[in-house]
Amino acid sequence: MSAPVIVLQNAVYKYPKGSFSLNCPALQLFAGELALILGPNGSGKTTLSKLACGIYKPDSGQLLLNGESANGFSLGKIGKTVGYLFQEPGRQLFATNCLEELTFVGEIKGANKEQTAARAEDILKRFGLFELRERSIYRLSRGEKQRLALCGILMQNPLYIILDEPTTGLDKQARQVLYNTIDELLSQGVGLAVISHDHEVIDRYTQAKIIKVANGEVLA
Ligand SMILES: Nc1ncnc2c1ncn2[C@@H]1O[C@H](COP(=O)(O)OP(=O)(O)OP(=O)(O)O)[C@@H](O)[C@H]1O
Ligand SMILES: [Mg+2]
Repeated sequence: MSAPVIVLQNAVYKYPKGSFSLNCPALQLFAGELALILGPNGSGKTTLSKLACGIYKPDSGQLLLNGESANGFSLGKIGKTVGYLFQEPGRQLFATNCLEELTFVGEIKGANKEQTAARAEDILKRFGLFELRERSIYRLSRGEKQRLALCGILMQNPLYIILDEPTTGLDKQARQVLYNTIDELLSQGVGLAVISHDHEVIDRYTQAKIIKVANGEVLA
């Protein structure tokens, strides 16, 4: 088997304000593999995913990306390897409208303007957002915001993507788009970790690696 994309080693993180701490002795996440992160409300799933994608820095232990310590990496650098879809997707949208949200992300990566715009339009079409390309992100529904946030992640072509409760509030059609996207990304060799309480997701992906989180302990 190939080397893991993401490794958390003896990682401990405690919120500066609060008593919760997360302990992750050993976690390995691989390209092309699907993992499901399961656990009750408040057990630490979101905290774990924010550690795995570099938003939180471990108090002790380390995050390795492609075998290299990422403790000193900027979020921009980490974002080229690991994408993270927030549980509240509105929190990761920054531009004024849908198209700009994607071209802004694309331009960061250094592609030329035409390539970036063409790729953004392609992705918007695939997710049924092309008609909304000029719409202000403030006027999107929650489901649309979530789809747009996922489009922004895909613009970066990350090797690994973590989705935090991605089916919440999605209707049947939007779920199907999400499942198709997950299947397609896996077939392209992208790795995915999906945090979910949703039985439809758990029943659909019985082949997934299961990572359990309980009371701040990660049992991988
Ligand atoms: N910024 C914060 N400061 C202090 N404590 C926090 C902070 N964010 C979360 N917590 C606490 O950390 C614990 C774990 O939260 P986390 O969001 O990781 O849980 P979760 O497993 O994702 O839950 P859910 O299923 O409800 O999304 C909770 O007790 C929560 O109250
Ligand atoms: Mg959560």
